[in-house]
Amino acid sequence: MTTLITLIALSSSFSAPLNEKRLIELGDGSRSWMTQEQITKLTEKFHAQGKCGGFFDVTDHPEPAVQPHEALFNPALISSSFFERNLTQKTTVEKLLNQISDDQRMKNLETNVHKLSTLFPHRKHHTQEGKQAALWLEDQLRKLADGRPHIEIERFNHNWEQPSIITRIQGSEFPKEKVILGGHLDSIAGFFGKTAPGADDNASGISVLVETLRTLVQSDYRPKRTIEFIAYAGEERGLLGSQAIAARYKNQGQSVVAVMQFDMTMFEAQARQLTLITDHTDPGLNAFVQKLLKEYVKVSWSTSQCGYPCSDHASWTRNGYPSVFPFEAPFGKHNPNIHTTKDTLSKISLAHGLHFTKLGIAFAVELGSGQ
Ligand code: BES
Ligand code: ZN
Repeated sequence: MTTLITLIALSSSFSAPLNEKRLIELGDGSRSWMTQEQITKLTEKFHAQGKCGGFFDVTDHPEPAVQPHEALFNPALISSSFFERNLTQKTTVEKLLNQISDDQRMKNLETNVHKLSTLFPHRKHHTQEGKQAALWLEDQLRKLADGRPHIEIERFNHNWEQPSIITRIQGSEFPKEKVILGGHLDSIAGFFGKTAPGADDNASGISVLVETLRTLVQSDYRPKRTIEFIAYAGEERGLLGSQAIAARYKNQGQSVVAVMQFDMTMFEAQARQLTLITDHTDPGLNAFVQKLLKEYVKVSWSTSQCGYPCSDHASWTRNGYPSVFPFEAPFGKHNPNIHTTKDTLSKISLAHGLHFTKLGIAFAVELGSGQ
C-alpha cells in the first residue's frame, strides 16, 4: 500500500514532463515525437541490449546539423591544418602542472565527487534538487574565482529547473576566440525515485573541471584566448543544456576554437591508459590531444567509438565546432555501475581522474595561449 501511494505521489509530481511530447533524434538522424515515458523505455531497451542509447532531444533546436567547422566564423581557424600545431607552451604548462602536488589534487577531486554525489544524489534536470546542485556548484566556483575581475560566472537558465553554469576567464589578446572545457552536472538512475549519486557519471567530470580551473586561477594565469568551463544541465535527457549553449553560440556567430568534454573520468579499466572517442568528434583535434597526452600526461591511449551521440561533445560537433572526448576506458569496458544507485565514490579511482586534470590544464594553456 505504501508503495502504491509513493508511486501515485511520484507519478503526479512527474505528470507534466510525462505527458509532454518531445522531438527525439537518434544517431542515424531519424526523428519521432515521444513522451518522457517512451523516452525512458527507449533507453531501458538499449540498456537491456547491453548498450547505452544516445539521442538528441531536438525539441528546442530542430534545425539540422551543420558541417564540421562550419561555425568557426574565423577563416584562420577554419583551416583544417589549425590543429597540426607544435606544442609551444611547455614552460607554462609544466609550471602549472607542478604547482599543486598529485596528492593534493586527488584530495580535491575526492572532496568534490563526495560532496556532489552525497549532498545531491538526485541531480535530475527538471527537479528542485537538480537546481540546488547547480547553485551549490556556482557558489563553489564563485569562491574559487574570489572576485578576480577577469573571471566571470554566468548562470545560463533553461526552460527547465536546472541551469548550466559557465565560468569564463577573459582572454587578453583574442577575447572573442574561445576554448571550452565542459562536463554535465546532472545525474540519472532508473525512474521512480532511486538515488542517482552519479559519482563517475558525472561528478568525476565536474570535479576534473573544477581542479583544472583551480590550477589556472591560483597561479593567476591569463590566457590570450577566452577559456570557458561549462557545467551543462540536462545531458542525461538528450544533451539538452549543451545543445542550448552550442546553438546560441552558433546563432550569435561566436568563434569556438576547440571543445573538450569530461564525462566519466575515474573508472580505471587499465591503469595509465585513457581512451579517445572518435565518433562525433574532430579528427584533427584528436590528433593534437594525442600530443598532449604524450608530452604532459605521460599516459598511453586507445581509441574507441560510442556509436551514437553519447555526450555533450556531440552538441558542439552538431553545431559546427571541433570537439574532443577523452574517456575513462574503451567503450564497453567503462564503469558498469553508471545510471544505478551503485555509481559511488568507493567504485572509482582518483588517480585515473588526475590524468584528466593534467590533460585539461595542457589543453587550456596550449590552445588558450598558443597562436
Ligand atoms: N556518460 C554517459 C555517456 C557514456 C556512457 C559514454 C557509456 C560512454 C559509455 C552519458 O551521461 C549518458 O548516459 N548518455 C546517454 C545518452 C544521452 C544522449 C541521453 C547514454 O549513453 O545512454
Ligand atoms: Zn549518463
